[in-house]
Amino acid sequence: MLKVMNLYFNYNDTRVLEGIVANVEKGRVLSIVGPNGTGKTTLLKCIAGILKPAAGTVVIDGHDADGMARRELAKHLGYVPQSMPVRFPATVFETVLAGRRPYIAWRPSRDDLERTAEIIEEMNLADLAMRDIDQLSGGQAQKVLLARALAQDTLYLLLDEPTSNLDLRHELEMLEVIITLAKRKDMGVLMAMHDLNLSARFSDTILMLYQGKIFCSGKPSEAMTPENIREVYGVEAAVRQENGYLQIQPLRCADLSPSRGNRIPPYVKDQED
Ligand SMILES: Nc1ncnc2c1ncn2[C@@H]1O[C@H](COP(=O)(O)OP(=O)(O)OP(=O)(O)O)[C@@H](O)[C@H]1O
Ligand SMILES: [Mg+2]
Repeated sequence: MLKVMNLYFNYNDTRVLEGIVANVEKGRVLSIVGPNGTGKTTLLKCIAGILKPAAGTVVIDGHDADGMARRELAKHLGYVPQSMPVRFPATVFETVLAGRRPYIAWRPSRDDLERTAEIIEEMNLADLAMRDIDQLSGGQAQKVLLARALAQDTLYLLLDEPTSNLDLRHELEMLEVIITLAKRKDMGVLMAMHDLNLSARFSDTILMLYQGKIFCSGKPSEAMTPENIREVYGVEAAVRQENGYLQIQPLRCADLSPSRGNRIPPYVKDQED
């Protein structure tokens, strides 16, 4: 299990995360939802070791992540950023192969090359394998970044809005790949998501953040209530079960009360030990 324990983070003097507690279990998907600027990306970066928390710890299968070397951490955690960081001249194949870096001493083994080819096939990227990554569309680049993280063969995956650049079909395809792999390879997935319908459908647990704090956590049907959506997003929504899925339909902007977000539902305790 990946445990986030009482994590705090500040940018300069501004508090961005406060007392975050989360458990990511192997084979399960936990989605972080919440409005823009609420701290989802910051939380993922703290867990990935890119940002250093002001307080709190991340424990991966019993080991404190803070004490791990970067290369060691990369064997446990794959991280896919919200967008391609800096584009450098490399082919799709080379980019995915770069995911094998924690295992490569100085040159890739036959196994590394085979594993890379396998993932490229699995993700339907074979047609693009020899293309330069700076010539890809946003959605194609997003798939390549996921493929690179999968090449890392980690037990946990951190994904920052993995479907933000994808069309309807590729969005579903991507989430199905993620869910299938999580179950088949017993990987724990923590992903930041904006689409409440898709996160309800593809997650075991939802962590709803508001202004850097956990507003609530629980099963999608427990977290995605009209009351919680009104408090956190300031939107009136209708929530119902339809075609076997939880459907969240935004209706209109709500009147914002001054005490908005202060009501912490009781099941926030669920994620605590
Ligand atoms: N490098 C930075 N320096 C200072 N403040 C920052 C920096 N990066 C982010 N912030 C601030 O930290 C807060 C949390 O940002 P973060 O990117 O984690 O939000 P988010 O929930 O991922 O938002 P979005 O849904 O828009 O991706 C925001 O108020 C943001 O303005
Ligand atoms: Mg973000």
